[in-house]
Amino acid sequence: MARLLVTGGAGFIGSNFVRLALTETDHTVTVLDALTYAGNRTSLDGLPANRFAFVEGSVCDAGLVDELVQRHDVVVHFAAESHNDNSLNDPSPFIQTNLVGTYELLQAVRRHERRYHHISTDEVYGDLELDDPERFTETTPYNPSSPYSASKAGSDLLVRAWVRSFGVQGTLSNCSNNYGPYQHVEKFIPRQITNVLDGVRPKLYGAGLNVRDWIHVDDHNAAVLDIIDSGRIGETYLIGADGEKDNKSVIELILTLMGQPADAYDHVNDRPGHDLRYAIDSTKVRTELGWEPRYPDFESGLAATIDWYRTHEDWWRPMKAATEAKYAKTGQ
Ligand code: NAD
Ligand code: TYD
Repeated sequence: MARLLVTGGAGFIGSNFVRLALTETDHTVTVLDALTYAGNRTSLDGLPANRFAFVEGSVCDAGLVDELVQRHDVVVHFAAESHNDNSLNDPSPFIQTNLVGTYELLQAVRRHERRYHHISTDEVYGDLELDDPERFTETTPYNPSSPYSASKAGSDLLVRAWVRSFGVQGTLSNCSNNYGPYQHVEKFIPRQITNVLDGVRPKLYGAGLNVRDWIHVDDHNAAVLDIIDSGRIGETYLIGADGEKDNKSVIELILTLMGQPADAYDHVNDRPGHDLRYAIDSTKVRTELGWEPRYPDFESGLAATIDWYRTHEDWWRPMKAATEAKYAKTGQ
């Protein structure tokens, strides 16, 4: 049993992580979350009060972070500004939360000698050509494209430096694109599902040939639990479920699963600097820690995700109009 401090636990992956940790382990969980536009307290409704607590605050608040880290055994750091398109419109909160916030946590775990796990993304590696036989591995050089991925790359490098120079007991994981319940409607899959539910045509950036390597959020989080449990200190683990799909195929599948013609979508402005392809070689986490995806079938996972958005309009409706108004400004 450990006392986990989960930053960003009111966001998409963090809230799913909290539920999985409370179900599959006997750990207790405290969430530290600033409840930005992306955080939603209702994503954590109904959790057992004897094992779960919520603190509203920022990872950039050094005093609060120090006090919380001291009272816990393990810090799992999900909190971040997480959306590429937002980072292109205004990079400043990405620098603050992703870099300064990670710095404050690292200083606190260093002072109090606590275990630290850092959640990151495969986007730190830049992108691959469509026909490249190689996939990202733990030794692929960093080459980020957007302010978001550059800020995540910088935070990863801070972690590596604090491990090496200050002996912080840290691990890192870089995961591919997640899908599942409680994902903000600004992101690709929930945006298209909720558009169709609203009778609006899905929006494909550019030609839509860009490839993402999709993984169910519970598979990502199960790997994180394995790393916290038995990962080697100082190591990086790439997490992916062999789920490469191009965006056009994903939109067509969403439309088909929702009973619409597969071509009932619009092409909109492309993202500046749009990464072409991400693909993960997850051999290390599979062989070293015995992790395997439990939801390898993307189509059935997507169908379940569509059902979730269909039955949880009360969760996503409050954020939909503001999200679409933001996209309208960039013609997306
Ligand atoms: P999200 O945007 O849904 O959630 C982020 C959470 O962090 C929100 O609850 C927000 O309120 C909180 N937050 C933001 N700034 C904060 C601050 N200063 N202090 C405290 N809390 C703050 O993001 P997500 O998709 O759940 O991503 C979580 C993590 O996983 C991020 O580190 C992201 O880089 C990483 N990641 C995401 C994906 C993906 O596909 N979404 C893939 C790989 C890695
Ligand atoms: P996104 O969910 O923003 O994740 P990321 O940028 O981290 O990969 O986007 C996934 C892919 O979908 C990406 O190639 C951009 C594309 N996309 C669209 O085609 N239409 C959209 O409305 C959005 C939000 C994204």
